[in-house]
Amino acid sequence: MSSELLVGIGELWTADPDEERAFVPDATLVVDDGRIAWLGPAAQAPEADRRTDVEGRAVLPGWVDSHSHLVFAGDRAAEFAARMAGQAYAAGGIGVTTAATREASDEELAALVAGRVRDATAGGTTYLETKTGYGLNVEQEARAARLAAGLVDEVTYLGAHLVPTGPDGQPVDADEYVDLVCGAMLQAVRPYVTWADVFCEEGAFTPEQSRRVLQACAEAGLGLRVHGNQLGHSGGVALAVELGAASVDHVNYVTDTDIEALASSDTVATILPACDLSTRAPLAPGRALLDAGATVAIASNCNPGTSYTSSMNFCVATAVLQMRLTVEETVLAATYGGARALRRDVRSVAAQGDDRTPVGTLAVGARADLHVLDAPSATHLAYRPGMPLTWGVWRSGHRVAG
Ligand code: NIG
Repeated sequence: MSSELLVGIGELWTADPDEERAFVPDATLVVDDGRIAWLGPAAQAPEADRRTDVEGRAVLPGWVDSHSHLVFAGDRAAEFAARMAGQAYAAGGIGVTTAATREASDEELAALVAGRVRDATAGGTTYLETKTGYGLNVEQEARAARLAAGLVDEVTYLGAHLVPTGPDGQPVDADEYVDLVCGAMLQAVRPYVTWADVFCEEGAFTPEQSRRVLQACAEAGLGLRVHGNQLGHSGGVALAVELGAASVDHVNYVTDTDIEALASSDTVATILPACDLSTRAPLAPGRALLDAGATVAIASNCNPGTSYTSSMNFCVATAVLQMRLTVEETVLAATYGGARALRRDVRSVAAQGDDRTPVGTLAVGARADLHVLDAPSATHLAYRPGMPLTWGVWRSGHRVAG
């Protein structure tokens, strides 16, 4: 693969957690063999095989979207309309999507997921996690995991998304379903997944059931994540911290004790601004979490129930405008933060001493995942919300959009 020199960068946002300043003006970078090979002042730039002039535009790491549910068929526009008319979101809607997803053929479902991945990439996302969770039986969860594994970067097993209904239309016995999730279903998905998640919430799984699922999955070698404190004080945050989960996601209903626990742990608090808007939930306290010293990630939570968008540009704008994060904090959370939530950031990879290429930060040796904005500064993401600001996207050094 030939090397490429990017010149004319207006602002280079490195999203390096060890850097004081958010961006470097008048910088250049060289991409070689899928990685960042050099980064520094324009005047000292080395030679490369090709040269791309981005004409004053801002260059960021590609977004790292650490929470999505892309393996689904159908939509829930009627449920959304009812919600806008005053009905509260409840976990039960997951069952509607489960029915539609089970109906879809492998080809249909794979095409739907591939289309959603394309949309995300076109919006600047270069590293993407997605979950199972609309199969809810052994065969369908394994199919979802298998299809996802060929299309996204990280797959999470979410068999514990909802207790499914049986042939009589009533929910099956929850504890027996948890046995299945911890047993045959886990075995069936295991070849395709690296993470396990659980919806620890009223109407889904209790903290005790969630603990059983997470412990079984940890014993099977999976990393842990938790849907916690989305609809109430579910105990998900405390459980995630106690079990050393990489991330606890949603965190809408948290106490000061929860925030302190997150701040003094390695568990990332993943906030989902588009979901909070679409469900009209109390916004996750991103400001308080950052002020307390927690590591925060921002993700899309793209799914048909609570957040039918994969636009990280939109999530970033919302986090600034609604949650009062600064642009600098928000860009870091949607790049480095997401990577940290997936333990694929520069610090985690260095600590693990493995040969994986870090993502989410622009540094020498990191994966060359670039998001070039059609704007001179990342501030435009919040200043011009909803505008088509993604100009070009590079993934592992290849231009994949724009
Ligand atoms: O993260 N909360 C649980 N899971 C999804 C919603 C799934 C659905 O309603 O279909 C979420 O918001």
